[in-house]
Amino acid sequence: MSDPSFLPPGTAFEEERAPRYWIKTYGCQMNVHDSEKYAGILAEMGYQPANGPDEADVVLVNTCSVRERAEDKLFSELGRLRILKDQIAGSAYGKPKEILVGVTGCIAQQRGNEIIERQPAVDFVIGTRAIQTLPEVIADVRRSGDPCVNTQDLVDFESQGVRRADQVRAFVTIMEGCNNYCSFCIVPATRGLEVYRPAAAILDEIRGLGLRGYREVTLLGQNVNSWIDPDSRMEFPELLLAIDGSLHRAEAEDGQSGVERVRFLTSHPKDLSPRLIDAMGAADRVAKHLHLPVQSGSNRILSNMNRHYTAESYLEQVAALRQAVPGVGLSTDLIVGFPGETDKDFEATLELVRQVEYDSFYSFEYSPRPDTAAVTQYEDDVPAEIKRTRLIELQRTGRSIQEARNAAWVGHETKVLVDSLSKRSDEDVSGRTSSNHIVNMAGDTGLIGKLVDVRVLSHAAHSVYGEIIGLPH
Ligand code: SAM
Ligand code: SF4
Ligand code: F3S
Repeated sequence: MSDPSFLPPGTAFEEERAPRYWIKTYGCQMNVHDSEKYAGILAEMGYQPANGPDEADVVLVNTCSVRERAEDKLFSELGRLRILKDQIAGSAYGKPKEILVGVTGCIAQQRGNEIIERQPAVDFVIGTRAIQTLPEVIADVRRSGDPCVNTQDLVDFESQGVRRADQVRAFVTIMEGCNNYCSFCIVPATRGLEVYRPAAAILDEIRGLGLRGYREVTLLGQNVNSWIDPDSRMEFPELLLAIDGSLHRAEAEDGQSGVERVRFLTSHPKDLSPRLIDAMGAADRVAKHLHLPVQSGSNRILSNMNRHYTAESYLEQVAALRQAVPGVGLSTDLIVGFPGETDKDFEATLELVRQVEYDSFYSFEYSPRPDTAAVTQYEDDVPAEIKRTRLIELQRTGRSIQEARNAAWVGHETKVLVDSLSKRSDEDVSGRTSSNHIVNMAGDTGLIGKLVDVRVLSHAAHSVYGEIIGLPH
């Protein structure tokens, strides 16, 4: 962050330049996409992106409250923004306008006014379902000089003008909220109950993305496989088949392949029906990857988590999926140290992880969240150091499985959608297989957005390295 006292004096340039915004995003893909929606709204209001908060007229902090640490991070971020605001207001040259600081996302929804009480540098708070109110809220704060809070339920799936960060892969919201009330999880409180977007609007948005050159779409929702069309009652497996059919028709009509792959996040095991498994096997544009959070391998803990499945039923689903969708990539989320988790429960989680052999997973220490059933019903009785040791052991087990699975790719050929320059080397590009494995290879930006055939030459812990063996398309 540059020192604001070095800003050029309040010159004509300063006065005439377009206003700028800066957005800091925490949390999951849903929040990442919400930030893209905010960026689109700000662009329509005439704002341009800033390189940092010190250059911005409006700063948004789009928050996550899934774990306690995420909340701590917010208040440190807001403390830094308060210092920045004070510096700019008191700088010799000043800026024509004061920075407005807004807090959005899950903590905003949950805490509303409390955020302003705790950190008066915050000018406005917008909840998860009031994104579209940003222009009125900014106008209100500018007019009155008083803080403004809007946490109304005004779900709007409008996707016009979304300003996406990536030019190859696009997120598409298909539902908001969650009805599951897993006992540890704050999301139903922060995102509300499930609301579904109509199939026609989803299909239209995907068609438009294909015409604009996007090659991959990820359907987003906290629990996508409980999606149901609000009018026709079409369910999620049929939606996938409808999207697949529409992509094939679009290719025939437009003479270009457009969106090549459709992914979806996140699926709950209790809603993974045989029809969904069949649809994944049948629809060739649907990526051969499933993120299926299991959380624990102990049936007692799963029951206390209110997850509605057992380790055995989960393993049966995995076997059915692997049979119907050969080569399917599988990832999951796991929690260690849920209240009452014994060594034996944790061993059951390790055993499940060894049996499934996930391609990757996210793992977390249980973090008690306000207003959740787990907090009211159970004591957070697993000591912090035991949570830590279990997490380390789980991650070590996962890493060695992932490395062995990556090693098995060496010598094989696969299709990769190139999505970016590699993070490690300017001479390499990076992409993903349909099964969501990361593949790096020699290449330049001309390959971004292309599908390439690759032979895998070597492997690392989280990715493989390959060489291109055919013409990109
Ligand atoms: N909807 C998804 C599902 O069905 O599992 C997950 C959404 S949640 C935002 C992402 C992950 O955060 C969860 O799968 C869980 O592993 C983790 N998580 C949620 N609440 C947590 C808590 N209180 N402590 C630790 N991890 C938590
Ligand atoms: Fe949270 Fe459970 Fe809903 Fe996932 S399914 S968002 S873990 S309540
Ligand atoms: Fe966090 Fe909200 Fe996502 S709590 S994980 S940003 S739904």
